[in-house]
Amino acid sequence: SSFSTTAASLHGIQRLGVVGAGQMGLGIALVAARTAKVDVLLADNSEAQLAKGLKFAETLLAKEVQKGKLSQEDADAARSRLKSVKGIEAFGDVDIAIEAVSESLPLKEKIFASLADTLPAGAILASNTSSISLSKIAAACGPERASHCVGFHFFNPVPVMKLVELIPALQTSPEVLARARAFAEAMGKTVTVSQDTPGFVSNRLLMPFINEAIIALETGVASKEDIDTTLKLGMGHPMGPLTLADFIGLDTCLSIMEVLQRETGDTKYRPSVLLGRMVSAGWLGKKSGKGFYEY
Ligand code: 3HC
Repeated sequence: SSFSTTAASLHGIQRLGVVGAGQMGLGIALVAARTAKVDVLLADNSEAQLAKGLKFAETLLAKEVQKGKLSQEDADAARSRLKSVKGIEAFGDVDIAIEAVSESLPLKEKIFASLADTLPAGAILASNTSSISLSKIAAACGPERASHCVGFHFFNPVPVMKLVELIPALQTSPEVLARARAFAEAMGKTVTVSQDTPGFVSNRLLMPFINEAIIALETGVASKEDIDTTLKLGMGHPMGPLTLADFIGLDTCLSIMEVLQRETGDTKYRPSVLLGRMVSAGWLGKKSGKGFYEY
């Protein structure tokens, strides 16, 4: 379409590398191949995870064809643009890499240092981090590359949620931010920009909301069902906050609250005791089969 041609000339991206074939990485890869129509290299340490991810992508594409949202031809084209690779070594000719591994600063620093060694000059180094400082991640790329680092924050499920929150590091150049915006728009997303502060806009507002719902439960204000139903039917939220916490993962919710508390020193971000206990018990929500609800 003329839209994607214009967008492509703005962002200049033809080839994307995605690090991490989990839920988020796979969703990003799929939407980039399907909607931005770029070639995608998907890297993960685990071959089993890669195979599982690509199978899931095929299932999602087939569902869209079945619903009449995508032609068989476009689905086949999207699938053919998705390729799995063993590691970042294969990213020698990508125009942008998006990292979507778990939220660990040492792990991200290691990945960004290898991206800086591998990507061609001028390529964008992006992170899907939900709470780690972009300025810290950019610093791991060395002074020449730091201006090309940017936060590219997607929301789960990536094919459904229409937002990308962009976070410039202190080091990010305006030109890189503009290209990142054009690429997110070519993926069909609406963009907001947040400064590099704890939790950015999205999790600074969402996590205290979820945390307060858990405190309401632990202090006996209402049953979990009534807390969720109040927000669902009273405010039109697609999921109540406790259901949403299970969906996101209670470990993720706790770790983001801890970042907010530690980096601001503000007691209003104190994580709920119940949340901490549930994570200790291994009740992580949907992914572990048990959280506030059973799955
Ligand atoms: N991948 C692709 N598509 C999916 C999907 C997935 N994993 N899950 C659901 N969908 C699609 C369905 O196929 C369906 O498509 P259709 O309308 O074409 O038939 C559509 O989404 C609606 O799905 P369902 O009918 O099965 O179920 P719901 O209507 O209950 O919607 C939901 C499911 C979209 C997940 C909805 O409940 C919702 O929007 N929940 C809130 C999600 C949210 O807030 N996400 C953000 C979390 S925060 C985050 O990610 C940031 C991080 O930093 C913490």
